[in-house]
Order: sequence, then C-alpha cells, then structure tokens
Amino acid sequence: MRTIAIMNQKGGVGKTTTSVNLAAALARSGRRVLLIDLDPQGHASIHLGVDGGARDVLSIYEVFADECTLAEARQLVEKDLWVVPANVDLAAAESELANFEGREHILQESLTQLAEQQLVDYVIMDCPPSLGILTINALTAVQEVIIPLQPHFFALQGMSKLFETTALVTRRLNRNLRVSGIVLCLYETGTRLATDVTDDLTAFLDRSEPGAPWADARIFKTRIRRNIKLAEAPGHAQPIFDYAPNCPGAQDYRAMCAEVIADEAKYQLPAAA
Ligand SMILES: Nc1ncnc2c1ncn2[C@@H]1O[C@H](COP(=O)(O)OP(=O)(O)O)[C@@H](O)[C@H]1O
Ligand SMILES: [Mg+2]
Repeated sequence: MRTIAIMNQKGGVGKTTTSVNLAAALARSGRRVLLIDLDPQGHASIHLGVDGGARDVLSIYEVFADECTLAEARQLVEKDLWVVPANVDLAAAESELANFEGREHILQESLTQLAEQQLVDYVIMDCPPSLGILTINALTAVQEVIIPLQPHFFALQGMSKLFETTALVTRRLNRNLRVSGIVLCLYETGTRLATDVTDDLTAFLDRSEPGAPWADARIFKTRIRRNIKLAEAPGHAQPIFDYAPNCPGAQDYRAMCAEVIADEAKYQLPAAA
C-alpha cells in the first residue's frame, strides 16, 4: 500500500484540488484508492459529493475517537475510489487529543490495520492548512509527502517551516517519511514569476543536505495550470474527469498521475494493478 499526504500549511494552494483529482486519476488507472479527508472544512468530501456531517455518516473523527476503522468509515464514490469524509467535529480533535498519550500515532495504527486488510493500493490524505496534530498524524502515518505550491513571491517563505516540521517528524515519529515531490499549482504559463519561483525552488532542493527527508524530492514536470474548470468541479460534486474530461485541468492531473505511477516500483502495492 502506497501512502501519500498532500500537505502545505498554507491555504488555497491546491491541496484539496490535487488530492481529489490525483485520487480520481489513480482510480481510473485501475488502482484502488482511499482518500482521507483530514480537513475539518470537509472540502474534499464535498468535492466528491459526500456530506461528512450528515447523520449516521462515519467520518475520520470517529476513527480518531477509536469508534470505527478506516475500512468501516470509507464510502465508495466511484469505481475504485473511496473517501473517509471529514466534518467540523474534527476541529475539536486538536484539543481533545492534547493530553492523549500516543496521539501522533492514531492514524498510523489505523493505516497499519488497513494495509493488513489489503483493501486498497493507495491512500491519499488531504491535510488541513496547519501544522497541528492532524497534519502530524498524517506525516507520522505516510511514506510520502507531496507539496502543492502556488508560485508567488512568498511561496518559498513557508517552505522552511514546512521542511522543519517534516525533519522533526522524520527524527521523532516516522523514519521512513520522504518528501517525494513538489507540484506547482495554479500555474500561470509563461509568466516571469512562475519561472523565478521554479528556479529558486530547484536551487533550494539542490542545496539540501543529503539525508534530509526532501533530499530526493523532485519538482513534478507537470505543472497544474490555472483552469477555471478545476474551480467549478467541486460545485458539481465531481472530479475533473467527470466534469470536464478534456479540459487543461484534466490533462494536467492525468499527466501528474502518470508521474506518480512511474515510481510505483519503489513501493509495495498489494496486487499488480
Ligand atoms: N489549477 C487551478 N485552477 C483554477 N482554480 C484552482 C486550481 N487549483 C485550485 N483552484 C481553486 O483554488 C481554490 C483553492 O484550492 P484548494 O485546492 O481548495 O486549496 P487548499 O486545499 O490548499 O486550500 C479553490 O477554490 C479551488 O477550486
Ligand atoms: Mg483544502
């Protein structure tokens, strides 16, 4: 099972859009995919047409509260694509878990159990825009982090904090954690700024110490261009491949998915997909 957290503590950089559409693209490539919504805003759930706050719906909150397993909370939304939804209850998890011993490992334990059940090939986590206990749980549980970045002047400023957090988690909680890639989202083709940010980022990665969790991170060749269809799709509760299968946004997420699949050999998938 390959496990990926889509993480950046900034809001509005394309985490949810990337989580949903990468998950949908992987499912369409024949992989069994579970998307875990870790944001109390529940945007990924809504994007897939699931109301995480509806009565009788099990959400990731119940998983944190040890009331159910991931397998029990998942809902099928399309062929090979499941979601464990989130709702506003999750906002309370932060304080409720504050004094709970082992709070960083809850999701890791749930994922270990899921891996044993061999129900899915990929787990994608849509992280909230913070570096609190929910994001720490994601980083403790996964093998890989993919960071969506919106190229603008301050884009790299938040990166050092983000990398520090990853390094800390690697030292204390999850030695296997790697930043596998950075994906440029909301990309304005041909602008000077986009090129400058890409150059700065490349230089930053080239300077990184060997052994740092991001030392082997690549910048995805695929840039996710700014495309209005990607912003419209959530309102129609559909991944981009259902809403506008031929638009630039669909092309870009398909291409990104192909890059993710290309290094599948490094990870253990339960079945040949
Ligand atoms: N490539 C894109 N082109 C146009 N709009 C986008 C694109 N990516 C994301 N958006 C829109 O930008 C907003 C923020 O994206 P979102 O994925 O929700 O970011 P985050 O989860 O990091 O807060 C949303 O309204 C989303 O629909
Ligand atoms: Mg989001």
